[in-house]
Amino acid sequence: MTITERDYSLAGPENQHAVDRGLSNAAWWRPPVDEDRLAELMARTNGRAARDTALWLALIVGLGVLGVVTWGSWWALPVFIAYGALYGGASDSRWHECGHGTAFRTDRVNTIVYYLASFMLWREPTLWRWSHYRHHTDTIIVGRDAEIVFPRPPKVRSLPLTFLHIVNAPRMLWRMIRHALGDIDADARDFIPESEHRRLIREDRIFVVVLAASAALSVVLWTPLPALLVGLPTIYGGWLVVFFGITQHAGLQEDVLDHRLNTRTVYMNPVFRFLYSNMNYHIEHHIFPAVPYHALPALHDEIKEYLAPALPSTTAAYRELLSAMRRQEHDTTYEIPDRGIPDIDSALPRPIDVGPIVPVESGTGRRVDLGAVTDVSVGQVRRVDLGEDTYALYRLGIDDVVLSDGLCTHGQAHLAEGHILDCTIECPKHNGRFDLRTGEPVRKPVKEPLHVYPCEVVDGRIVADLAVREDA
Ligand code: FES
Repeated sequence: MTITERDYSLAGPENQHAVDRGLSNAAWWRPPVDEDRLAELMARTNGRAARDTALWLALIVGLGVLGVVTWGSWWALPVFIAYGALYGGASDSRWHECGHGTAFRTDRVNTIVYYLASFMLWREPTLWRWSHYRHHTDTIIVGRDAEIVFPRPPKVRSLPLTFLHIVNAPRMLWRMIRHALGDIDADARDFIPESEHRRLIREDRIFVVVLAASAALSVVLWTPLPALLVGLPTIYGGWLVVFFGITQHAGLQEDVLDHRLNTRTVYMNPVFRFLYSNMNYHIEHHIFPAVPYHALPALHDEIKEYLAPALPSTTAAYRELLSAMRRQEHDTTYEIPDRGIPDIDSALPRPIDVGPIVPVESGTGRRVDLGAVTDVSVGQVRRVDLGEDTYALYRLGIDDVVLSDGLCTHGQAHLAEGHILDCTIECPKHNGRFDLRTGEPVRKPVKEPLHVYPCEVVDGRIVADLAVREDA
């Protein structure tokens, strides 16, 4: 029996320990995927998410009305159970997808749904946005990831309380109230930039006021209905968040840089997949967060040969995670074996073919020939390495080419693995975006601009001027 209690807080010593071991902001394993196919999978539309969101909201409104109509009879019980599950449960995956900005092509709609779902979940929008960036940077790295649900040793016997959401939800509400009062805790300060604190406080105040208004209306009208419709569903419907969410990482490895070891993909039925927005393909989502939820099954087909076989059902996932957690209760070093991951030793970041780089003005090193324009398809981005430096080359139109620095200014992600959306490049790691004309950040978490270089097509060749960078 080995019980080692670690400090999972972000303000404790494990944070620096993870950094010292190279586990923070590290390069993660990813499988090879054909670039054109990946670009197809990352494509955004509004239609699919509009249909799914409209159905979800229509069900909530319909059940809410039905709940009011049937109030006072036993029929109201199943109606409110279903209402709560859709309001306080299915909102989780909508929150998640819209937070990544991948659900809708129109990012403003992502933002609206993100805020609505945040309210339904009692999640502070700014806090959770930044917490989730960190979760993707340092997934299940102790001391770095604020979204580790089951610190070791896990308390299996308290799982029913987790499902009932009666411990976590009040904790989240209390944290929101404290933040609304300007008291931001140390963990939150670790991953939320100071420039975002005012926004955090302002949003939390609005959420607290609306929740208080719902509670006050219940008191004034002397009926629980207002609170049952707005506010309390977060608690009595929260079981669905736990039911799906627990399958993602519970019982799997900590402190590894391979999502196949710390994340689960589970085959689920179509109803579950609607409620959960395909997040059961969770390994795929973590490796390629720029792929929208509706394309995850297709992505799974592309890469499954590199993964362990997916768990065949939700029941199988629970069997695996409960068995692991029971053992970890008494032995915190216990790990589930590699679950049949093929050829795990080849788990290295994929190399990218950068193609030939030819200086145009030999000796000056200023203007460089990056190859025939026809070598890059319209709408495609390619990585270009020149000596120690790395760049990203975009072809936006027939003769419209752009060259930028290759690494995202927020982290170490190669933008050439990202997604061109209109005239922006979306980073593959946290879905931050840059305007490709100006290099200015247009979507969080990026805050620093990207350097964009003069680049043109001359006699069918792409020629870039790197002087600005060399002069810098
Ligand atoms: S590394 Fe975070 S948005 Fe690019």
